Amino acid sequence: METVFGALDVGRGDYVILPRATTHRWVPTGDDPLRAYVVEANSHIAPPKRYLSRYGQFLEHAPYCERDLRGPSEPLLADGENVDVLIKHRGDGPGGISGTRYTYPAHPFDVVGWDGCLYPYVFNIDDFQPITGRVHQPPPVHQVFEGHNFVICNFVPRKVDYHPESIPVPYYHSNVDSDEVMFYCGGDYEARKGSGIGQGSISLHPGGHSHGPQPGAYERSVGVHYFDELAVMVDTFRPLDLGEGGLASDDGGYAWTWAGGRRDR
Ligand SMILES: [Fe+2]
Repeated sequence: METVFGALDVGRGDYVILPRATTHRWVPTGDDPLRAYVVEANSHIAPPKRYLSRYGQFLEHAPYCERDLRGPSEPLLADGENVDVLIKHRGDGPGGISGTRYTYPAHPFDVVGWDGCLYPYVFNIDDFQPITGRVHQPPPVHQVFEGHNFVICNFVPRKVDYHPESIPVPYYHSNVDSDEVMFYCGGDYEARKGSGIGQGSISLHPGGHSHGPQPGAYERSVGVHYFDELAVMVDTFRPLDLGEGGLASDDGGYAWTWAGGRRDR
């Protein structure tokens, strides 16, 4: 990842936090295609306030801390003429968003030094220290970042509830105040087994619909001590609309998996 603040080496499992309006570009290396799950916001995205002291440092109960964050280490200078920079901003486009293309006579990566507390950084999901409990822990223990009107949580491989009669998969719930978007990126997500969810799947559970683990998941999870799962959840506090890409890849059978099995259209 190259930015006006410098370059960041980025790999599998990295969250790349880019402050809004940071001029940047992805420069894929190696043979594998670049795959990124992008969360864009109309605010900054930052660690939850409750993880931080009033002085701004991570508290000891936070599941990660300053030692886990990687920032740019030196300026990045690039040569170029007539370089296009694409800007996303408010406007008349779909969802009130438009774009503008600027062409700069010189390359925008010309910053020889900078100072301050705003810069891009990387946090790897493997460095998230899961908080576990004797009985089921509520979703906020999985929170990793927050933005205006949404939170980002991650479900990482972990020891699960250790009361002898605990049920480690989540309870049924009505997400009255939020839409839930899950991105499944590793392991095997216990609560969704048998639903057609696989690596790279994205699910959307709109607010207002009660839901929970797939039929049979409760029984299977009793006595299990470890979940090998990796998923990123974005919970929004305003309703989401599906874009073109979302509509095009809709799996019409998923919703019916709570009714005993998939019903493919
Ligand atoms: Fe949910």
